[in-house]
Amino acid sequence: MRIGRVLVSAKQIEARLAEMGAQITADYQGKDLLLVAVLKGAFMVMADLSRHIALPVDLDFMAVSSYGEATRTSGVVRILKDLDREISGRHVLIVEDIVDSGLTLQYLRRNLEVRRPASLEIATLLLKSGLQVVPVSVRYVGFEIPPDFVIGYGLDYVGQYRNLPYVAVMEEGEEPADGTPAGS
Ligand code: IMP
Ligand code: MG
Repeated sequence: MRIGRVLVSAKQIEARLAEMGAQITADYQGKDLLLVAVLKGAFMVMADLSRHIALPVDLDFMAVSSYGEATRTSGVVRILKDLDREISGRHVLIVEDIVDSGLTLQYLRRNLEVRRPASLEIATLLLKSGLQVVPVSVRYVGFEIPPDFVIGYGLDYVGQYRNLPYVAVMEEGEEPADGTPAGS
């Protein structure tokens, strides 16, 4: 497998996260906002999006693992790391890298809702069009993308490519020696 076409450039990501951050800043004025990122994939979105939120936010992290193949979600989610603190009465915004089948978020939403947050919303950088097998209401969406398997900006293929500053399509074939995306 190798890095294919760039789907969302670093510049596009930066500009869109600035817009989303401004929207979140407006929506959560005067509220006690807790951002919850889902590791590992959402670590970059969390770092960059949170810097565009002009509010005194609190950050926390969860780590989940979905059993199954490298490029498909099974829907069975295991919590590897839970939140450090309670969320009851707080306004929680889940920060995600990508919503694909929606199964991970459906599980997370149910898991967090029973803890009685004041509100629970979702922000995701990427949403794969038409692939949701369960309805998930996502309040903030960065980009809707086609249903290809993508890598970069936190997203991995068997643990690699998370450090790419852009989002690219994963392509069949050999990795070129210099690791640059196809056609660039
Ligand atoms: P779900 O199918 O919405 O449950 O997605 C679960 C998780 O699978 C996401 O949070 C990602 O970590 C991972 N994932 C889904 N689609 C992709 C992709 O195209 N590239 C890399 N990881 C993905
Ligand atoms: Mg994820």
